[in-house]
Amino acid sequence: TFGDPELANEDLRLQYRFLDLRRPTLQRTLAMRHRLNKVIRDNLDAQGFLELETPLLGRSTPEGARDYLVPSRVSLGSWYALPQSPQLYKQILMVAGYDKYFQIARCLRDEDLRADRQPEFTQLDLEMSFVEMDDIFRVIENLLVEVFRRCIGVEIQTPIQRLKYADVMLKYGSDKPDLRYGLEIVDVGDIAAQTEFQAFRGTLDAGGKVRAINASGAAEKFSRKQIDELAEVVKRAGGKGCAWVKVEAEKFAGGIEKFLTPAIQQLLRQRLGAKAGDLLLFVADKEDVVCQGLGTLRTHLASILKLYDPNSLDYKIAWVLDFPSFLWDAEEQRWAANHHPFTAPLDEDLAKLETDPGSVKAKAYDLVINGYECGGGSIRIHNPDVQSRLFKVLGMTEEQAKSRFGFLLDALKFGAPPHGGIALGLDRWTMMLARTTNIRDTIAFPKNQKARDLMTGAPAPVDAKQL
Ligand code: AMO
Repeated sequence: TFGDPELANEDLRLQYRFLDLRRPTLQRTLAMRHRLNKVIRDNLDAQGFLELETPLLGRSTPEGARDYLVPSRVSLGSWYALPQSPQLYKQILMVAGYDKYFQIARCLRDEDLRADRQPEFTQLDLEMSFVEMDDIFRVIENLLVEVFRRCIGVEIQTPIQRLKYADVMLKYGSDKPDLRYGLEIVDVGDIAAQTEFQAFRGTLDAGGKVRAINASGAAEKFSRKQIDELAEVVKRAGGKGCAWVKVEAEKFAGGIEKFLTPAIQQLLRQRLGAKAGDLLLFVADKEDVVCQGLGTLRTHLASILKLYDPNSLDYKIAWVLDFPSFLWDAEEQRWAANHHPFTAPLDEDLAKLETDPGSVKAKAYDLVINGYECGGGSIRIHNPDVQSRLFKVLGMTEEQAKSRFGFLLDALKFGAPPHGGIALGLDRWTMMLARTTNIRDTIAFPKNQKARDLMTGAPAPVDAKQL
């Protein structure tokens, strides 16, 4: 970070963006972004890629968000969708023989905003033919090394470590683990099953999980009231709260201590590597709620216990792979694509596509830097029959698949090479390089948390004549 005087509130600064943009911090961050774009173009040009542009006015591409729609004046009642990503165009380019494509592409998604999300953001979008996952990793790692070297003088060690989705969900409660600190989550279900504590036993009987975090040395740092606030953090993440005990030399104290016999306390001490002065925090719930609850608690604890230096140049980078292809959408009562519906399943899982979709894994990968999802991609389906089968698993009839994605199925029939790619979130890359936690600092004219541009006043009503 470049250091800043005391700042006015952000909405006021966004309204007077022309003044805020004079700040040296923003000037340097935007210059960093320029540098990043330049290194990307140089590097990918040297790696043999061609920069091509795809339309803004097009057809809806599903990436899991709502579309921004644009009415057509000449075809009354018909609409363009602004791209959530150039996904389908880049696949079509592979069919057309442009076998190393990239684009610095604006993407638009009408979704709920967070500190690292904007409705309008920029991807380095990239696609290659005749590749497997390792080829994509090689291209991106080559780029990553050059970006960090030329933008901030940091040497990144390659190959980048590869982690499995199931492992990171267990250990960190998140598919974008922040590896700058430990504080790992540990399953204690087998031990919890031996207690008389109803919140644990009931959860386990219902097929749920009991997992814990050892906040090492934190017992003294938290008052009773502050521990209650930790429970609130878990509740805001969708859980019912968390149970706790403090570890003393001979025994546990406080919280759920009375439910834990000396023998159980001994087992927990071993499993969690606990020693006097530690604070143990437990969450019992359905597995996804436990992951979400403890994952959120983990990042919260790390920031209040100051377990990492936000300005450190020791970046923690990982590929996460072996994602499930589908997630069950309880609201819609159907399977939904975990990435997008064009992601290839692992070859060995293809046979289970119809019979056991929940167990199918994808040839998909995310790039995670310091706990931020900075990129994601996959090897694609290049066989029209497999693509049709996948649409069916997602609950689409043949007619629906044809009317929405007929052009893709058609193109695949004309002979598509095996292909795959990735998109890197350049706003987030700039956050990493400039070491800011606010995505708006990386964009000259960003939207606020309500998707408004406070300087120009967009979105704004239009008059009836224009409509
Ligand atoms: P995905 O949806 O994972 O994949 O997006 C790729 C990367 O783009 C960034 N990103 C965002 N950045 C800021 N604000 C947002 N609202 C936002 N949404 C996404 C993230 C993310 O990792 N077509 C696929 C890529 C592919 O399969 O090749 C896609 O768009 O850093």
